[in-house]
Amino acid sequence: MIKKTIKDIGVKDKSVLVRVDYNVPLDDEGIIVDDNRIKASLPTLTYLIDHGAKVIVVTHVGRPKGIVEEKLKTDNAAKELSTLLGREVKKVNDCVGPEVKEAVSQMKEGDVLMLENVRFNKQEKENDPDFARELASLADIFVLDGFGVSHRDQTSVTGVTHYLPSVLGLLMEKEVETLTKVRENPEKPLIVVMGGVKLETRIPMIDEFVEKADKILFGGAMIFTFFKAMGKEIGSSLVDENFVDAAKKILEKYPDKLVFPQDVVVALKLEEGVESQIVSIDDIPPDMMGLDVGPKTVDSFYNECRDAKTIIWNGPLGAFEIPPFDKGTKEFAEKIATLSAFTLIGGGDTAAALEKDGLDQKMDFVSTGGGASLTLLEGKSLPGFEALNDA
Ligand code: 3PG
Repeated sequence: MIKKTIKDIGVKDKSVLVRVDYNVPLDDEGIIVDDNRIKASLPTLTYLIDHGAKVIVVTHVGRPKGIVEEKLKTDNAAKELSTLLGREVKKVNDCVGPEVKEAVSQMKEGDVLMLENVRFNKQEKENDPDFARELASLADIFVLDGFGVSHRDQTSVTGVTHYLPSVLGLLMEKEVETLTKVRENPEKPLIVVMGGVKLETRIPMIDEFVEKADKILFGGAMIFTFFKAMGKEIGSSLVDENFVDAAKKILEKYPDKLVFPQDVVVALKLEEGVESQIVSIDDIPPDMMGLDVGPKTVDSFYNECRDAKTIIWNGPLGAFEIPPFDKGTKEFAEKIATLSAFTLIGGGDTAAALEKDGLDQKMDFVSTGGGASLTLLEGKSLPGFEALNDA
């Protein structure tokens, strides 16, 4: 379904409520440590400012469960946005109510106003119609540009669309177009790389791609659920006990499509700098856990990718947050960055793993959404996208 975008409507002198996703990584003091999602919203915000809209920005930060948490306030996001836009961004201390109405009534063309964290209101997650009506009453138009939250059926994502003309922002448009194209019509050969911890969360994507991909390469802790299903010794590695049978079925059904690591990095525990060793997947010591893929695996995965026209990668290959178990992910990323294939990286952990070393810049497309990109890659629809006006 084609949806209207901000380019299909007049925005001059209109109040435009823009739902962004500024749920960005913060340090212990609430300081923003990665502003990629804020940067990704700039094309939409700049377009609206340049076309004379009054721009009201709304986001969630974290999961505050309907109560105010100092660290999760949007003050720092407003400051960061102001720096990036090179203009003043006013900030109010709520999302609705008299203070907010007053601030909106003072706005002029091109002004930008940041609302407080929308999840400080518990009605946000409940998709409460009264809250939606109140939020919608601030604006003439609603724009959804927070791709990362577009898989949520919540007030500021879908609820407000019942009360306002609602259109796509430019980030949302680019994300949905790109992810839909690689799922529906990827240039072949297509290699899918899957990592991450839980096999359970990856099964729908395996089902979606196992026919159309030329190969699926597996890394991350979820390989141990497959290895257990193969009857291998996996030591104290993480395993999804409830999904060993599911892993067995996948292995039986698609023996030629699936590629597994040949070697893994093992250690007694997951701890920074802990002593580790590289072993064949047939020699995992009973008291050790697998925490990363080994160098032979990185080479063999790279060889599988060499002739690919499209590479879709979702999920880190090892425990990337804790060195030295970030090595497999990093080295594989460095290698595929040299290939001419279109490289599409799922958001969330995969993007975070690459951003650590600036390797995200070397990929063709890095999604800003974790759960949202997985939803689209599984062939499911996004409630936020569906709720917008058709073109
Ligand atoms: C994300 O970071 O994945 C999005 O902002 C969605 O956040 P949520 O999982 O708390 O809804």
